[in-house]
Amino acid sequence: MFEGIVTVSSKMKKICQMIERVAPSDATVLITGESGTGKELIARAIHRLSGRRGAFIGLNCAAIPEDILESELFGYVKGAFTGATTTREGKFQSAHGGTLFLDEIGDMSYRLQAKLLRIIQEKSVQKVGSSTDEKIDVRLVVATNKNLHLEVKNGTFREDLLYRLDVVHVELPPLRERREDIPVLCRHFFDKFCRKYSRSLKLSPEFVSVLSRYDFRGNVRELQNILERVVLLAEGDMVTVNDLPRHVLETVAAQNVADITLEEMETGDMTPEEQNVNDLFNKITGVWELDGIDLQRLLQDIEKELILRALNKANGNKSLAAQFLNINRTTLIEKLKRLCKEAA
Ligand SMILES: Nc1ncnc2c1ncn2[C@@H]1O[C@H](COP(=O)(O)OP(=O)(O)OP(=O)(O)O)[C@@H](O)[C@H]1O
Ligand SMILES: [Mg+2]
Repeated sequence: MFEGIVTVSSKMKKICQMIERVAPSDATVLITGESGTGKELIARAIHRLSGRRGAFIGLNCAAIPEDILESELFGYVKGAFTGATTTREGKFQSAHGGTLFLDEIGDMSYRLQAKLLRIIQEKSVQKVGSSTDEKIDVRLVVATNKNLHLEVKNGTFREDLLYRLDVVHVELPPLRERREDIPVLCRHFFDKFCRKYSRSLKLSPEFVSVLSRYDFRGNVRELQNILERVVLLAEGDMVTVNDLPRHVLETVAAQNVADITLEEMETGDMTPEEQNVNDLFNKITGVWELDGIDLQRLLQDIEKELILRALNKANGNKSLAAQFLNINRTTLIEKLKRLCKEAA
């Protein structure tokens, strides 16, 4: 394992060698790749390998409205805007001597892109509401799952900024284009979650073989979620294909690359309760497919299902069930009251 990166793929090994080479320089690194391919993992590895003494500071540019992003990035002085009651440092100042990781850079507004370009060129930053330059020594690592060249063509990303950012480009391949990594990652996450949940289980070879044919649109994160789910819910000593989420089995069967049919993979012996939990986890592991999702409802379903499971495991003892869920007994009772109301 190299810096927490589990891989046997030659494409990924080349990437590891490349980041090892460029990390000690202060060259800006642009990391691209589909969701869940390991962009943040690579960014953190670059920081560790850089030997820079300052902190690793991350910021997701897509998650924050433009004005707030601006003051988060650059800081602000007292009185710069309503609510600015004190002067505050931004992420650039906090990352001084270290690394600033700007995630989802493709979603930054055109105006802020111009500001970022100026900072990169001048190596100094001005807080919002201030005209004083502060010298900063920050290594920038940026990531996106967008094609920035296409964004430039569409007029949503500045070409001059792209050339400043694209000094070293790390392009992470999707998991389906490095299938040789699936078995090793599978084993890695399996061991990790067995340790985390203190379970001693075995992994059937068919389980790994079916997953190796699956297309993982959510990449390594999806694989990780699947392994967490199976380790958590496995009832016997052996994790088998029957523990896989239904949508994985269906997709693999539908791809027709499998030499086993869905009927052969399933025992069909699930109780309605198990089926419920199964469906629920399918929803969770498929959560990046936002089509038709109702977050509120999904979270309520998850809560309800876990409460029922905890009560079941505790033979109806509320104190014990609350302990399983790591919540107060009174909180559990509140939640049960609400569930009863909903059911009425
Ligand atoms: N090669 C790998 N070895 C071990 N763990 C990995 C590997 N690649 C990814 N992971 C794990 O998978 C999860 C997703 O990775 P990460 O958050 O870095 O992806 P990302 O590309 O930033 O995703 P997103 O675009 O959704 O933000 C993390 O928990 C990460 O530790
Ligand atoms: Mg990320």
